[in-house]
Amino acid sequence: MMNEFQRLMAVEAAVKREMAKQDKAHDWFHIDRVRKMALKLQAIEGGDPHLIEMVALVHDVGDRKAHESEEAGRKATHSLLEKCGVGPRFASVVVDIAHRISFKGFHVPDDMPSLEGKIVQDADRLDAVGAIAIARTFTWGGAHDRPMYDPNMPPTPAKTAEEYYASGGATSVNHFHEKLLHLTDRMHTKTARALASERTEFMREYLERFMSEWNLSEDWEARVRLELHERSEDRRSYFDAKRKYIEEARAFINKGHKS
Ligand SMILES: [Fe+2]
Repeated sequence: MMNEFQRLMAVEAAVKREMAKQDKAHDWFHIDRVRKMALKLQAIEGGDPHLIEMVALVHDVGDRKAHESEEAGRKATHSLLEKCGVGPRFASVVVDIAHRISFKGFHVPDDMPSLEGKIVQDADRLDAVGAIAIARTFTWGGAHDRPMYDPNMPPTPAKTAEEYYASGGATSVNHFHEKLLHLTDRMHTKTARALASERTEFMREYLERFMSEWNLSEDWEARVRLELHERSEDRRSYFDAKRKYIEEARAFINKGHKS
């Protein structure tokens, strides 16, 4: 008969194998960060730490994105737990909470009655806010052939879970506007809300910078090309204009990129 710790270790090993099949934004290290964050939140907010750790470990095993249906995902999680010696009743509790965790869209309210579930959901969402979240968003986008950014594709917040899964975020930058920048308001615990708010500030700064680099290079290059083209008949005027743009570019770089 396995004890609680041995079952936890067995689940950890099985989840490691399972997550190796998913994309690199949902790898074992994501699970491990969520588990550690959830246990930190538990220390402040309370709840059953064993249940929290189990839910954190399996919360992405049955992810909708990795399975044909929600039901198939539930079955996969349940069978992993049972294979690791977890009794069917506890396994059902864990599966029920785990499957309420994933984000189903901007306008879709959460359905998370237990404190343990709220804590793991907060921990999972905290991994979608901040510096690591930026890396995860572009990693996921790359793995799913999603453009980094496209000025012709404005963000569209999903009204239903179906709409959210169908669009999957047209670009990685849209995903920030459709989901990540709004996660602070969706945190259940005070501790997670404080952490999320600070991390969201950083993401906003990052996006501002992303847009300023994107727009600046476009505007500036277009203007330079046009003027150089207009003056190309007159050699002297052409070189004067070119010198002016080189100086402008140097001044811009020295200024430390604030436009
Ligand atoms: Fe997750």
